[in-house]
Amino acid sequence: MDENITELISDLRTYLEYLKGMGITSLPVAENVPEKVPRSETLTLADVRTELGDCKRCKLHRTRKTIVFGEGNEKATLMFIGEGPGYDEDMQGRPFVGRAGQLLTKIIESINLSREEVYIANIIKCRPPQNRNPEPDEIESCNPFLMKQIRVIQPKIICALGTFSAQTLLKTDTKITALRGKLYDLEGIKVIPTYHPAFLLRNPERKREVWEDMKKIAELLNNA
Ligand code: URA
Repeated sequence: MDENITELISDLRTYLEYLKGMGITSLPVAENVPEKVPRSETLTLADVRTELGDCKRCKLHRTRKTIVFGEGNEKATLMFIGEGPGYDEDMQGRPFVGRAGQLLTKIIESINLSREEVYIANIIKCRPPQNRNPEPDEIESCNPFLMKQIRVIQPKIICALGTFSAQTLLKTDTKITALRGKLYDLEGIKVIPTYHPAFLLRNPERKREVWEDMKKIAELLNNA
């Protein structure tokens, strides 16, 4: 047997005897220990898309034109998650293709990546009427599918774009100004919130902060 394994077994035996000496005679079984990220080794994005089907799980199906599932590399190390489709995305069935999307493309390219190399999705997959904010029941209906996409892709880093994305993924009410640029954990995956590209179109002076966040993401990816 490999020397390391023999040593490991010996250490384990010593540890178990120590626990026994302390009066601990049973250990929790694996099914009681939560998995960090429930890994999906067999599920594919195509499976998730099939399961989603012609979704009518929330009221947005009545007004949407197209479901915007998400697009990009199934093996991406970096995933961007926005809020929800706008007019252009609803028309084309693709995420971030309008003005905000063009800015997102530039942001991605600023760290020498392309849209094809990352994965882009949204908190909700259907456009809310008049681009209103997503409502809690809509977010809740969509969330299992987004989580499955995350588990299939298993990115190293998720960049949460804007308030809704950051607050939904991190289950917090904290403002995006306080969240941005910091590192959080979503079941073992690093999450970095930053400003939404649509916010940057209205407030171009905040681009510098997003650039700082992107540099941090690039560094983390290079050291991963
Ligand atoms: N804004 C978003 O949050 N997502 C898109 O796909 C487009 C605009």
